[in-house]
Amino acid sequence: MSVEAVPFPESQPNGYSWFPDEPVFDPAKHLALEMPESIRYLEEFGYSAEEIKTKASPVAVSSPFRVLSDKGAQVLLETARALRAHAISCERIENMVRGGCYRSRFLRDLCIDPSLTQLMCDIYESDVAPHTMPLHLGHMNFSPDDLSKAVDKWHHDTLPLDFVMMVTDPTRLDGGQFEYFVGTKAEMAELAKQGKTPPRNRVETPPFHGPGYTIALHGNMVVHRGAPLNSPGERISMVNGYVSTNTTLDDQHRHKDLTLVDDPECLYAEWAKHSAWRAKERLNTLVASLEFNADRQAIADELSDAIRDVTETIDQMRDTGKHEMHHYEKS
Ligand SMILES: [Fe+2]
Repeated sequence: MSVEAVPFPESQPNGYSWFPDEPVFDPAKHLALEMPESIRYLEEFGYSAEEIKTKASPVAVSSPFRVLSDKGAQVLLETARALRAHAISCERIENMVRGGCYRSRFLRDLCIDPSLTQLMCDIYESDVAPHTMPLHLGHMNFSPDDLSKAVDKWHHDTLPLDFVMMVTDPTRLDGGQFEYFVGTKAEMAELAKQGKTPPRNRVETPPFHGPGYTIALHGNMVVHRGAPLNSPGERISMVNGYVSTNTTLDDQHRHKDLTLVDDPECLYAEWAKHSAWRAKERLNTLVASLEFNADRQAIADELSDAIRDVTETIDQMRDTGKHEMHHYEKS
């Protein structure tokens, strides 16, 4: 059973206040947890055993499974509609809300609920915790105002693991489906270089049965998108992030992309805490396991590797040069 790797902050960032009147999250009332019927693995997508062994989970994606009860789905929809007042846009997504867990206690408590986290551990076949950075909890995507635009372009995520939950009823929408490419990031990069999107025979569209249904995704390894809507409709999805608690594995983040999107008031402190947590755990591993060795360079390398997340974060934070958000489409 996994606990929070970095506890949710007790104080709120400047400019954020709690919604005054919302139902208190009650797992007995708002959750209806089920295991997915099927799981697909990274191996099937073309990744090598060598690549997979340093990643947060061997899992690529699950079939849709139920997370919320009817009541839970209803409250989440009301929460999402209230959060929409805080929507921002970026190069990849026209309408989204970040930091919703600093405004809605219901959303926060859903996203860090221990029984939901345990279900995600079971699905990912790995010990995971709710993401260390609250900006990656309860992320909301809303349909774009321009119908020709995808809800979210072909991309892989800036974080290792997440689930994608339908907040509105997907069975009532014309288009706007969640799609993923059965292939590797390298294959997708090659297609993108030729100006292509994934061939349709290698794209899967998992059938979500209703609001509150969810798929578990290895978002950093599986290329995916939210397709455009064919006719106007309210389409909201919620993405909740997880990290592996095994910090000897790869970090699997592109934190720097967040500098183009996120509120600096939240981002830098969250990012620093994430990297500090990784380094702290990796240093603890080193304290427990470092063998005697007369090779001073080898020892220095081990020490340097243990704090790599912190040194990289410092370098990236100090570098204020131009940076572009990664995705696989030209516009
Ligand atoms: Fe994504």
